[in-house]
Amino acid sequence: MAPVFSSSRRWCAASSSGALNHPGPLIELAAASSSDAGLIRSLLDGYLHELGNHGDLPIATTDSVSYPYLDLYWSEPGRHAFIIQCGRRAAGCALVRGPTSTGSAVHQLAEFYIKHGSRRLGIGRRALFAIWKRFPGQWELNVHKRNVAALQFWASCIEAATNAAPQLSELRTRDGRHVRFNFHVEHRG
Ligand SMILES: CC(C)(COP(=O)(O)OP(=O)(O)OC[C@H]1O[C@@H](n2cnc3c(N)ncnc32)[C@H](O)[C@@H]1OP(=O)(O)O)[C@@H](O)C(=O)NCCC(=O)NCCS
Repeated sequence: MAPVFSSSRRWCAASSSGALNHPGPLIELAAASSSDAGLIRSLLDGYLHELGNHGDLPIATTDSVSYPYLDLYWSEPGRHAFIIQCGRRAAGCALVRGPTSTGSAVHQLAEFYIKHGSRRLGIGRRALFAIWKRFPGQWELNVHKRNVAALQFWASCIEAATNAAPQLSELRTRDGRHVRFNFHVEHRG
């Protein structure tokens, strides 16, 4: 937690123009359709269960059955579901809301998950950079304040991908305190 707030230096390092091509394992960001819903739900089960450990308060949504938004990814314009593949295996998933869905200029990373056993290999970073390459522009994401690993992950990836410090703010929701990151990702061909 400390590095996220204690030092502005972490945020000032300019990224190189090739930052979004950071080295790491080969991954594929595969657009998911409704036929992949079962796989995404099984990934969300692990993800939501883990997130429940980070909130200050117990939350209602601790498994994919009580997650109300997944079907919208097949019906609402501007929502994008991805399976993150490494080799031939699903290593995780990402749910993205573009401006058509958020109703503003902002993209949101609604959910982002890398399975245990696939972590600390650079898969999350590669997947995130692939998402930002596909959807440059204004971004917003919220992280549980107690989710230290995720805070470190976002700090490190945002620093590598942008040339400017993100705006950080704290907010309180029904499941506790969150840190909100706002930042801009440049278009790269
Ligand atoms: C957070 C998460 C997405 C990271 O995915 P990952 O594939 O393991 O991350 P990477 O290997 O690409 O890590 C990139 C950098 O992020 C930071 N980082 C990642 N995991 C970290 C951890 N557990 N502790 C500290 N720093 C971490 C490091 O700087 C790392 O670079 P390094 O390995 O060279 O030091 C994964 O742990 C996860 O899915 N957690 C549960 C769900 C979650 O919290 N999602 C985010 C919700 S906001």
